[in-house]
Amino acid sequence: MSCSLRPVGRAHRARLEQLTRDTGLFREEEVGTAVELLDEHLAGDEDYRFVGAFDGERLIGYACWGPTPGTSGTYDLYWIVVDREHQGEGIGTQLLREVESRLSAPGSRLVVVETSSRADYDPTRKFYEARGYTRAATIPGYYAPGDDLVIYTKDLAPGDLARTAP
Ligand SMILES: CC(C)(COP(=O)(O)OP(=O)(O)OC[C@H]1O[C@@H](n2cnc3c(N)ncnc32)[C@H](O)[C@@H]1OP(=O)(O)O)[C@@H](O)C(=O)NCCC(=O)NCCS
Repeated sequence: MSCSLRPVGRAHRARLEQLTRDTGLFREEEVGTAVELLDEHLAGDEDYRFVGAFDGERLIGYACWGPTPGTSGTYDLYWIVVDREHQGEGIGTQLLREVESRLSAPGSRLVVVETSSRADYDPTRKFYEARGYTRAATIPGYYAPGDDLVIYTKDLAPGDLARTAP
């Protein structure tokens, strides 16, 4: 489906909360965190950047990312969510490509994504794997017993990872 990619504003706050909750994947506390990051962004905090996918005026997906504190050129993809009704239509791919293209400035090296090993995240992990993300680490039982943290990375500047730090 064709959607337009635009900034997420205050007017989209409730809709962002709703579509995050409606995925059925996130705990209520996590939904609250997504909204808090939007609030930080709207207050001018450049550590949290957002892009929205819109069908007309309706927000149907978003991504949130920012520089990882204490690193040089590493970015966390904190959130990527597509309205349940529109999943599988290519919108997540458009959002991910948009984030990556905004990280094409010199010095951006690595994207890190944290997700879960739970079976209901199987499609999510497949999504990252099919788009050039490599499973870099697992922390067993991180979220809960039997629910591991799975960390994916994508090298934006191949070759840089192995270079000696200054
Ligand atoms: C993961 C997510 C952002 C992907 O966005 P999307 O718009 O559904 O993905 P696209 O249509 O661009 O790509 C579809 C691919 O993603 C995968 N996928 C993930 N979730 C899917 C879903 N619910 N329906 C269909 N495909 C899905 C499939 O492997 C599919 O692969 P294919 O292209 O080989 O068929 C979206 O499904 C989503 O919001 N999921 C719930 C929230 C979530 O898991 N966010 C990430 C938290 S770490």
